[in-house]
Amino acid sequence: MDAREMKIKAAQAALDYVEDGMRLGIGTGSTAEEFVRLLAEKVASGFRIEGVPTSERTARLCVELGVPLKSLEELPELDLTIDGADEVDPMLRLIKGGGGALLREKIVACASARMIVIADETKVVDTLGAFKLPIEVNVFGLAATRIAVEKLAARHGLSGEIAVRTSGDGPFMTDGGHLILDASFGRIPDADALACELNAIPGVVEHGLFIGIASLAIIAGPAGARVMTV
Ligand code: A5P
Repeated sequence: MDAREMKIKAAQAALDYVEDGMRLGIGTGSTAEEFVRLLAEKVASGFRIEGVPTSERTARLCVELGVPLKSLEELPELDLTIDGADEVDPMLRLIKGGGGALLREKIVACASARMIVIADETKVVDTLGAFKLPIEVNVFGLAATRIAVEKLAARHGLSGEIAVRTSGDGPFMTDGGHLILDASFGRIPDADALACELNAIPGVVEHGLFIGIASLAIIAGPAGARVMTV
């Protein structure tokens, strides 16, 4: 089974958790897009859901495939969010934001009664941090914010480059008009504390540590999909 087939397998298994009439948060990334494709087939056959997308990219795909959308303003309380992840640890702590949608992803997931992660086996780790941690920051005060993040990282015994994400010739801009710092921390020994302390830095808009948000993960491997819960 190749990587795409595993993503489809996880997305397929997630559909079992989606009930007719649900208000659904719809994630961002290649795995979430497989979910959108399968969801669109169900919608075409008469299944009713109302979706809230976590990015402009996901919104475009949903519109193209006929998945009905609402804004989070219209539907501020959701039943379920299905989204991918860059890393998943045994406590279902996540790193997200490889696609740059972490802020909307976190807002939508936290507005949902439940978040289910869909991923392939390569995303499962013992300790978060091999994937660069995305930190969304305000454009104003970028240098000062980066220094504050570096000092916080040092207090956690973390080193490694903290780089502004680029896209083409310029900086990558999020849907919210912010920048992303990608922090190559390596193993993060205390992700819970780091998450709280990052939130306390004024220029940090949000970070990609999703702690205590997901309650179930569907992990697809060559032998099929398995469920992780906490
Ligand atoms: C988007 O910002 C991310 O949080 C994605 O959910 C994450 O990067 C997983 O993406 P893939 O499914 O493409 O690996």
